[in-house]
Amino acid sequence: MAGILEGRTAVVTGAASGLGLAMATAFAAEGAAVCVADLNEAGGQSVVEGLRREGRTAAFTRVDVTDPGSARAMIETAVKAFGRLDVLVNNAGLQHISPVVEFPEERWNYLLAVLLTGTFLCTKYALPHMIRGGWGRVINIASAHGLVASPFKAAYVAAKHGVVGFTKVAAWEAAAHGITVNAICPGYVRTPLVERQIADQARVHGIPESDVVGRIMLEPQAVKRLLEPGEIAALAVYLCSEPASAVTGAAIPIDGGWTAR
Ligand SMILES: NC(=O)c1ccc[n+]([C@@H]2O[C@H](COP(=O)([O-])OP(=O)(O)OC[C@H]3O[C@@H](n4cnc5c(N)ncnc54)[C@H](O)[C@@H]3O)[C@@H](O)[C@H]2O)c1
Repeated sequence: MAGILEGRTAVVTGAASGLGLAMATAFAAEGAAVCVADLNEAGGQSVVEGLRREGRTAAFTRVDVTDPGSARAMIETAVKAFGRLDVLVNNAGLQHISPVVEFPEERWNYLLAVLLTGTFLCTKYALPHMIRGGWGRVINIASAHGLVASPFKAAYVAAKHGVVGFTKVAAWEAAAHGITVNAICPGYVRTPLVERQIADQARVHGIPESDVVGRIMLEPQAVKRLLEPGEIAALAVYLCSEPASAVTGAAIPIDGGWTAR
């Protein structure tokens, strides 16, 4: 059976790891030619090799989404390689855990640059190609932290709330061209980004590392387990489908009930 993205091209930022890897894999399985874009060259190349071994169409592009020239070059490279651009996922990201009073200014600036400005830049350069094609899907990976706060994540929470706001503006501007723009707002997903913050969470909360998942991460969720990357990828695939063509400007939680409270 033909996949729903047969003949389409997708760019996924941060696709060397975690959620981006899962979405690149899911889009490729649906027939898309996928541009795996990441700062991490070795990781991104190995994702592409894996996809090609499965008979998928994929190419790696190194990108630093904070750099306008790099973001623009990523989009142009994908269009040159595959002839068109239909789907953009703004997924590249990172975390920094610290109380506000100790939050290093350069980390604040960098998180905002990656998470918020990066999303703006990639969307800005992708939209003209989607407008030309008369169809498009922009999916911004925000977070439950785009809707609610947790302590010690000032830059991340501020940037993700900004991503949700930007999503709404872009959705309004793009709708007339057959393009939807949505934000996915996951709870905690089992990825390297989550594994890397366990030690810092233990330190700022003053608890043992072994208690972080149960007492901090799963505490706000009604569903008491970490999500799996494939669950987020399945939602992204749905947003690319035709039945989702009226879903736009939405910030969709997939968070085990966290933001229902
Ligand atoms: N894992 C979770 O629980 C969770 C929950 C909600 C939202 N998110 C969001 O999902 C996205 C992916 O997170 P993940 O958990 O898969 O993390 P991850 O660390 O596994 O992957 C992030 C990827 O982004 C890349 N990246 C970082 N800075 C970049 C830059 N400047 N330019 C290009 N690439 C860059 C990294 O190299 C890495 O491959 C992030 O935006 C994150 O905020 C994750």
